[in-house]
Amino acid sequence: MKTVFINCSPKERFCASAYFLSLQRIFVSGKKVTVKLRTPADHEPILTELADAQSVVFCLPLYVDGIPSHVLRFMEKMEAFCRENSLHPSLYCIVNNGFIEGKQNEPLMQSFEHFCNRAGLTWGGGVGIGGGVMLNVTRILFAVDIALLLLNTVLSIINTGSLFPKSAWISFGENAVLLLYFNLGVLFYLARMGSFIRKRAHAGKKYTRILIPSFVFILFADVFFIVISLFEGGLFRGWLAEKELKEE
Ligand SMILES: Cc1cc2nc3c(=O)[nH]c(=O)nc-3n(C[C@H](O)[C@H](O)[C@H](O)COP(=O)(O)O)c2cc1C
Repeated sequence: MKTVFINCSPKERFCASAYFLSLQRIFVSGKKVTVKLRTPADHEPILTELADAQSVVFCLPLYVDGIPSHVLRFMEKMEAFCRENSLHPSLYCIVNNGFIEGKQNEPLMQSFEHFCNRAGLTWGGGVGIGGGVMLNVTRILFAVDIALLLLNTVLSIINTGSLFPKSAWISFGENAVLLLYFNLGVLFYLARMGSFIRKRAHAGKKYTRILIPSFVFILFADVFFIVISLFEGGLFRGWLAEKELKEE
């Protein structure tokens, strides 16, 4: 069985969709092909992969409570392609959003369900994930933790000759458990959907989020976006700056 995973984030690097997609791949067996959908140039290669696929998994961000426009353009082409070639793959969807509630992805999920009905595809269901940006940061933090552990090990070998600096391992273990806990909902529902993809069965729609209380999320999100804004050209990305009117 062949499954095509489509990463629909328009970002070139560090997108949350790539993270969730790599997790979903772990739970799916058979032939797996991952493709990126960013520009119209990606359409043809993806359609070629779809020609002999039994399942397709769209992994995308929520944009203004809906499907990003570059994905809509592709779906139009995919509908025509599937009709022309009498293709009826099962379609699954992993959608993540910036705000904390995964349930906000429900309208997008409904759009995919209608798309399947219209294009003659089999709607397999999906997982909606809240706090996608923050969950994506957890994998970066995990990489930083590993780097720190390696650094501490090297320092420990130089200073004491010991290969296992105890305090560094304890701190690494504590951080790893915490980061794993934040991701538990995502891991559970992606593992669950993986079992349905393997059987080409209907998984239904499930919603989850980063496992932290909302008030903690808001606090961290505020600090995160202020810092990002500063890096991206001033507080609130220059929203408060005086604008120059452009002559058309
Ligand atoms: C143009 C745009 C619109 C967005 N609209 C929403 C939205 O309606 N609700 C929401 O929770 N997040 C929204 N977001 C945040 C993204 O869904 C979020 O950053 C997501 O994690 C990006 O996934 P990616 O890294 O895979 O591209 C929006 C982001 C952009 C750039």
